Amino acid sequence: QGKLTIENKFGAPLNDLFGIFFEDLNHAADGGLYAEMVQNRSFEFEPVDHPDYHETFAWTVDHPNDVQVRTDHPLNSNNKHYLAVNSTGEAVKIANHGFNQGMDFQADHTYLFSVFIAASRRSFIQVILEDEQHHRLSAPLTITTDRSDWQKHQLVIRANRDSHQGRLIVEVLPDSQVNLDMISLFPTETFHHRKNGVRKDLGDVLAAMQPKFMRFPGGCLVHDGTLNPNDRESMYRWKKSIGPVEQRPTRRNKWGYNQTLGLGFYEYFQLAEDLGAKPLPVLPGGYDPHHKRAVPIDQLQPWIDDALDLIEFANGDQTTKWGKKRAELGHPEPFNLEYLAIGNEEVGQPFFDRYPYFHQAIRQRYPEIKLINTSGPFASGSEFNRGWKSAKKYGSDFVDEHYYMATDWFLANQHRYDHYDPKGPKAFLGEYASKENKWINAVVEASYMLGLERNADKVGLACYAPLFCNVDYPNWTPDLIFFNQYQVSPSVNYYVQQLFMNYQGTRNVPHSIDGLPTPTVKDAQPIIGQFGFEGDLADVTYQNVTFIDHETNQQQQFKFKNGRLAERARHMLGKTSSQNYSLTFDATRTGGRVDKGFHLIFGQTTDEKYFMWVL
Ligand code: AHR
Repeated sequence: QGKLTIENKFGAPLNDLFGIFFEDLNHAADGGLYAEMVQNRSFEFEPVDHPDYHETFAWTVDHPNDVQVRTDHPLNSNNKHYLAVNSTGEAVKIANHGFNQGMDFQADHTYLFSVFIAASRRSFIQVILEDEQHHRLSAPLTITTDRSDWQKHQLVIRANRDSHQGRLIVEVLPDSQVNLDMISLFPTETFHHRKNGVRKDLGDVLAAMQPKFMRFPGGCLVHDGTLNPNDRESMYRWKKSIGPVEQRPTRRNKWGYNQTLGLGFYEYFQLAEDLGAKPLPVLPGGYDPHHKRAVPIDQLQPWIDDALDLIEFANGDQTTKWGKKRAELGHPEPFNLEYLAIGNEEVGQPFFDRYPYFHQAIRQRYPEIKLINTSGPFASGSEFNRGWKSAKKYGSDFVDEHYYMATDWFLANQHRYDHYDPKGPKAFLGEYASKENKWINAVVEASYMLGLERNADKVGLACYAPLFCNVDYPNWTPDLIFFNQYQVSPSVNYYVQQLFMNYQGTRNVPHSIDGLPTPTVKDAQPIIGQFGFEGDLADVTYQNVTFIDHETNQQQQFKFKNGRLAERARHMLGKTSSQNYSLTFDATRTGGRVDKGFHLIFGQTTDEKYFMWVL
């Protein structure tokens, strides 16, 4: 018989424990949450973003000789390319198929069309929605113009039938001569009716979770890039992502496609507010660990200013430069920023040499902001410890931990945070997932989340990653929510996240269970050390792995099949205190991220014996 003891007192507050993490990978923003239906609206797609790209990617033109991509009279210097159409004899039909296999139109729904036009003579343009068989789905609407300077025109178009594979048709009528740019189509109904907003169905599925916070905009997308903010492939600089969308430069997304920045920092803050989630932006810390590019320390000030200005943008009143900017964009009230992360998953001393400059400048001006340091993409090890050391030294409020592991790892590490120091810094589990979307993964994540709740005095924030995946453009699996242009399919893991967020308590209640058969996992406590061999930095396939215990001279072969550990095993060890072990292995480099690693977890049984788990 077991005995459950519940203490008659409150434990740690759960505060903002469970939230979400949005990154534009898997076309999560462009072609996803961002409701823009036109792909390549500004003709800025280039092969540097993706080898298949060119300026008219996603567009088809029926009279190519009448159409040119030009740059001599651009809409602005951030938006260089435009389409010059001279319809001498016949009408010229330009079509965009959007993302996936086409655009989703629904009968009786309306769509906001907009375009910038500069005309060399009196010109006529018709706008029509069509299905994939070229049948009309809307009555044609006409724009007439003779303005030679760039002018924005807007129309509301009503669809009269459904189509999941629709196209937007812009027809330049005979004897017209126009330059066209920023050809855009949005559903008029967006989540919370925001202009330049997000897809309602995807916004709704986020809102149904009731996240306490939203981390954005990445991920590796933030810190993978060059140091010059004007480069197309620069690190993510938030100031480029606000203001009129036609003035935002598009960029090469780390995940191999073009990022319009249409979903920018203003929209992220707005979305967080609409979701009732606290915003949690991530800024680059002047170091790209992917390419080992570091801003010289004496040139770090603009990067630090980006952080200070962002806080002012979010929280400053209208007498401040950036608070005024926010008000001009349509949000006079502050966004109430509390959390700010410097760096994402950083590896390498150069980041930790730069972090203190950000930390001290922000602390000095905004002592109320909770600062988040980072411990790299590892659950343990020297790089992981480097982040924690830096956080403790400078007094960061949180350390961002990221790990994507097998289900067994999550089960074996249920008690990971029991041993953390409640005096802080707290852990922010900013990215985690067990590596598939099967029910067992969801169950294991749920049981792990109970460990997070139990340790709410040591873990302040946690969010699953990645959040979204457009099924036609996957960069990464598993993910939480799958979608295409008209369907949304949350994973089983999503429902676990939703359950925990919907029913997140305010405080945990200390409790214990005695007298039950000791579960195997408990038997493994305390975990005294662990080593992982998987992920980015171990992009290898293992074979012939031998573990040698030099105390006992025992050798253990681990069996691998197709590069994956074939059998999990538990081994009793000699003494652990001497740590007199070695591991030999043959490995083939595969390149890229793989999940065929293994973990050695060292534990101690209740009767003081030491053992090792191989998972
Ligand atoms: O979530 C996907 C990626 O995983 C993130 O961009 C990065 O931080 C991590 O490596």
